[in-house]
Amino acid sequence: MITLNEIKRRAAQGSHKYSWEDLKRLRAEDEARQDERFRKQFHDFKAERTFSRCGVLPIHQNCRVENFELLTQGHRKAADFARWYIDNFYLNNGTGFIFGGQPGAGKNHLAAAICNELMVAGYSCLVITVNELMQKLRACYKASSEVSEDQFLRTMVDFDLLVLDEVGLQRNSDAERLVLNQIVDQRTCRFKPTGMLTNLPAGAEAPDTQTINSVLGVRIMDRMRANGGKWISFQWESYRK
Ligand SMILES: Nc1ncnc2c1ncn2[C@@H]1O[C@H](COP(=O)(O)OP(=O)(O)O)[C@@H](O)[C@H]1O
Ligand SMILES: [Mg+2]
Repeated sequence: MITLNEIKRRAAQGSHKYSWEDLKRLRAEDEARQDERFRKQFHDFKAERTFSRCGVLPIHQNCRVENFELLTQGHRKAADFARWYIDNFYLNNGTGFIFGGQPGAGKNHLAAAICNELMVAGYSCLVITVNELMQKLRACYKASSEVSEDQFLRTMVDFDLLVLDEVGLQRNSDAERLVLNQIVDQRTCRFKPTGMLTNLPAGAEAPDTQTINSVLGVRIMDRMRANGGKWISFQWESYRK
């Protein structure tokens, strides 16, 4: 099979003997690449217009799997998961993840590391706190807003990877639960993965403890578990200590 580089090399030497099939295939491959680039640019443009940003916050732009220190076996497991997730993302059919653990444990670091690397590979990603998401959604209700609520939610669903940060930190209102349900639901239907970062535990030791299930509802958690979504435990002390 002839490659584009090979064609360029032969063209430079003045020999042009390619089959019609080769040329057709190369043309199709080139168009597919262009389409993908165009799709990503269009999405990022829409995202910029809708949220005034996409990707990760500047504070997490240097986060990489490689600069995540492996201080315990747990750190290693979490970093291995992040590496596996990145390397297999092209096969991803909607497999999400939940990083659960104490503040400062490195959940944002690894989530940003995943997004930073995927964005270089051409995927569109967003890490956003539930608080920021709700604020920006409320801004759409204003008459002066250029972006409708519908457009906002569609852009949310369009990201190749959406990571919701500080899940469960909020007031836990019905409106919030409804919006999160809608986003996760629509993303799952389109095989788009969603990640979540939370300080809440997965299960409760005492019946009245808040868990991610009790805060978000069983339905959304069921969606998160669909397609093999993983719970990664960050149960160690804050890195900042
Ligand atoms: N194992 C680690 N190696 C290197 N830096 C880390 C590690 N864990 C956390 N950090 C850094 O510590 C700070 C707090 O981590 P962060 O990811 O924000 O924690 P969390 O989201 O779990 O609250 C960040 O600047 C992060 O880059
Ligand atoms: Mg955090």
